[in-house]
Amino acid sequence: MTTRRDFLKTSAGAGVGAAVGLGSVKPLRGAPAVHRSMVTPVAVASGNGLEAVTTAIRVVNEGGDTLDGVVEGVNIVERDPNDSSVGFGGLPNLDGVVQLDSSLMHGPSRGAGAVACLEGIKTPSRVALDVMRYTDHVLLVGKGAQRFAVSMGHQVEDLLTERSRRRWIEWRARMSDRDDYLTPEESGNRVPPFEDAEDYGTSLLDSHDGVRPLGTINCNIVSRDGDLSGVTTTSGLAWKIPGRVGDSPIVGAGLYVDNDVGACGSTGRGEAVIKTCGSHSVIELMRAGMAPVDACLEALRRVVTFTTEARLRDPEGRPNFNVNYYAVNKNGEYGGAAIWSGARFAVCMDGEARHEDSAYLFERGS
Ligand code: GLY
Repeated sequence: MTTRRDFLKTSAGAGVGAAVGLGSVKPLRGAPAVHRSMVTPVAVASGNGLEAVTTAIRVVNEGGDTLDGVVEGVNIVERDPNDSSVGFGGLPNLDGVVQLDSSLMHGPSRGAGAVACLEGIKTPSRVALDVMRYTDHVLLVGKGAQRFAVSMGHQVEDLLTERSRRRWIEWRARMSDRDDYLTPEESGNRVPPFEDAEDYGTSLLDSHDGVRPLGTINCNIVSRDGDLSGVTTTSGLAWKIPGRVGDSPIVGAGLYVDNDVGACGSTGRGEAVIKTCGSHSVIELMRAGMAPVDACLEALRRVVTFTTEARLRDPEGRPNFNVNYYAVNKNGEYGGAAIWSGARFAVCMDGEARHEDSAYLFERGS
């Protein structure tokens, strides 16, 4: 009798491209077809996605759709005022305005939807879902995206929390000593201390691998039937130039799903992911037979190659920023990788959610 373990070994060695649904595309190396009922549902997400993967798996196990599962999962983080990387409470741009980006893809229907520079809506992923379901377009931006969101019943709200506004005020004050904004020290500490003052220190201005705070959530899932979906959502780079769009809402960069192969998404420096078509590259590498973790590492090597700017390299010539990929294939194999060691990702499988260490290219401190 073939156990699930044997099956995965066989199919992994033979290449993911052998999965069902290839149509006229020739299976790779004559691998056996995937028996749909043998995939254990798996969800993977960025490290801040433990609740998201748990929710996504619950929705799918209850018979829900894979895309509804991952969107419901990331909505928890988008609505969380204490997560400063996404949605409500996300860190704002240069002008103190929160601008959100999100994209999603539904494997079985090959659907995609995205929004960029969206202001005032707590759950940009749900607007991206409406773009996919209710329009002929894939990507809406700025005011048009907001008008569309309102037409679909989304509420426009102030997305700055007291905490994120304070962090922006602090950043603005420390930007230059040649303007009229004062830091608490410059004002002779006349400013009442912030409740969680230690959180706002200069470290926060320089806390993300030597660059400004930058967070995102990506969540991908494969169901028992081998169907895949993924979503990425973010408030993007803190203090960005208004109008800046990162990788998260760009299909092929911050997210890609091919129901024949797998799903992948990214977090980290979006500019580097866009230049290398990151998530699409991971999918193509998996289609060629690579395991998810190896495909993620190979795509990260391309990021390293594309990092030619001296300002973005450390003294050893390595990127001075991080990029993370999270991927799952149609067989239920999954992996996460980052440029730098120390990253973790969330995974839920067999009803158990946990963090796992990401593979990496470079050891911190080396
Ligand atoms: N990866 C998120 C961003 O660059 O906006």
